[in-house]
Amino acid sequence: MSDITVDTVKSESTQKLIDQFGVQPISPELIERIKKYTKKDTLSHFIERGIFMAHRDLDHLLTQLEKNPNEKVYLYTGRGPSSTSLHLGHLLPFTLTLELQRLFDCPVVIQITDDEKYLKNQDGKSLDEISDYGRENIKDIMTIGFDPKNTFVFTNRQYINFLYPNILKIQKSILTRRLFKFFGSTDNDSIGKVNFPTIQMAPCCPSSFPTFLNPIFKWRCLIPCALDQDPYFRLFRDIASSIKEKKPALIYSKFLPSLLGRKEKMSSSVDKSAIFLNDTPKQIKKKINSYAFSGGQDTAELQAQLGANLDVDVAISYLEFFMEDHQRFLEICQQYKDGKLMTGEVKKITIEIIIKVVSDFQENRFN
Ligand code: TYM
Repeated sequence: MSDITVDTVKSESTQKLIDQFGVQPISPELIERIKKYTKKDTLSHFIERGIFMAHRDLDHLLTQLEKNPNEKVYLYTGRGPSSTSLHLGHLLPFTLTLELQRLFDCPVVIQITDDEKYLKNQDGKSLDEISDYGRENIKDIMTIGFDPKNTFVFTNRQYINFLYPNILKIQKSILTRRLFKFFGSTDNDSIGKVNFPTIQMAPCCPSSFPTFLNPIFKWRCLIPCALDQDPYFRLFRDIASSIKEKKPALIYSKFLPSLLGRKEKMSSSVDKSAIFLNDTPKQIKKKINSYAFSGGQDTAELQAQLGANLDVDVAISYLEFFMEDHQRFLEICQQYKDGKLMTGEVKKITIEIIIKVVSDFQENRFN
């Protein structure tokens, strides 16, 4: 059996996504450049283990920052409030944003797209219900640890007048047929849903934040997210120069998979797929034991003989994301793959780790 190394773990499925989306992998050289620029010796396991896996133009952004002391970076990320609580997958881009805020000591803007979730929801939820979700989501987001003095969270409903001049510029520069093609919209979609992407693009323009971003500097936007949000920003990058804006850089987190299988992402709209940040330890244990798809064999004898298929095992993938002790993680992978650990044992370890992540979060949560 071949040995498990960090590169084996990193490469699973990541290369496919990198090729499909035409993004750049986060190379060891880029990690060294980030360390050098930010004067840090170590970065979190999320970066070192390739969980924050790819980027667009992050190298170019670093070059600009190095060359021009007058240029500064701000981070832009967001949340579409579709449920009362964030799930574990949402934690990843926000954790990445937090790490970058600490590394670069820079401002963060966070867009809460209550309009998006009102326009797209099919189950009749009112704008006020969505706003309630938004308020709860903001408490979750601020619990993650952003610097309150350097972080601006806004809901589109309340902040739209500041975004509107840039929304108009963006709207004027994109033809409907291009938008349809990018987002797969059809003429059966509502006007609001079709137009929404331009609202998510507006925060890429620093002038959307005239009172938050000090105008004595030239600001460059860096967007941490997962690849599902890429179309908004790819299209904005395409039109940026036509409206005299700079292209934002992006950094992408891997998708945390659904409990039901690694081919799907964890999603709020599929309850059995997700572990929410307000789940109890009992719920977490039940969800992982009952739903987490296993790559182990059906019987202990077969498992001892053949070992587990790590590529499809959900519990292992949650350990990859949340077990910080790298050596221990690699040992578990090796033993499970060699049939020396059973599925039940790996799930038990995963349950302990996830309960710790969620209960630490709940202890700190703003109420
Ligand atoms: P939303 O609420 O669907 O997701 C919020 C953030 O979480 C990421 N994400 C995931 N990351 C890892 N694993 C998963 N299973 C997973 N599921 C979701 C998303 O990529 C996103 O970064 N329209 C957006 C809100 C938004 C936004 C932005 C997001 C507005 N402006 C700028 C990123 C950057 C939305 O509905 O996100």
